[in-house]
Amino acid sequence: MKRVAVLASGRGSNLAALVTAHRAYHSYRVVLVISNLAGSGALSLARDVGIESVLAPNRGLSREDHERAIVDLLKQRSIDIVCLAGYMRVLTTTFFTSFSGPVLNIHPSLLPAFPGMRAQEQALSAGVKWSGATVHFVDHGLDTGQIILQEPVPVRPDDTEPALSGRILEIEHRIYPMALDIVARDQYEIRGRVVHIPAVDA
Ligand code: GRF
Repeated sequence: MKRVAVLASGRGSNLAALVTAHRAYHSYRVVLVISNLAGSGALSLARDVGIESVLAPNRGLSREDHERAIVDLLKQRSIDIVCLAGYMRVLTTTFFTSFSGPVLNIHPSLLPAFPGMRAQEQALSAGVKWSGATVHFVDHGLDTGQIILQEPVPVRPDDTEPALSGRILEIEHRIYPMALDIVARDQYEIRGRVVHIPAVDA
């Protein structure tokens, strides 16, 4: 059973999905939630369900000191895997040189299209017919790590940002726990840019 920490800055719906699914998957357990923002929904959700929650504010700290504080927490709690879920900060090499476990993220587009903020708005402005959700490994770039799972969502001619975001979010909540389960069970192999998952590729 892998010990998972979730880093989140926002409302925490993906955190909720990961927590709900860990009861079904048995391969991982969310044991720690870290947020940089005091009022985040993710922190209150963690408190409500009895998961340790830690506020790690970034204000007034250098990026390096903030990341070192987070890595210290991860090490103290013997965390195996980190999941970013609406975490609004890009991690730097300070983090990756001191935490060697897998780090995952969920993004509301079919990467590499529309990285960064407001991916759903970017998709609507570009006039694409399909968008979707991506779970990927995190490196020090902006949504540039290897892709683990993706699922498309059709963009409707009269779509609005809230409507498209809502449909993508439903997919996020399903594929994020699936991807974490695959990683927690070590059922993948990375060759260059490609994450091979025998159970999915077959
Ligand atoms: C999600 O759309 C996720 O894809 C993006 O940030 C949003 C977080 O939502 N990275 P929530 O806090 O998990 O509800």
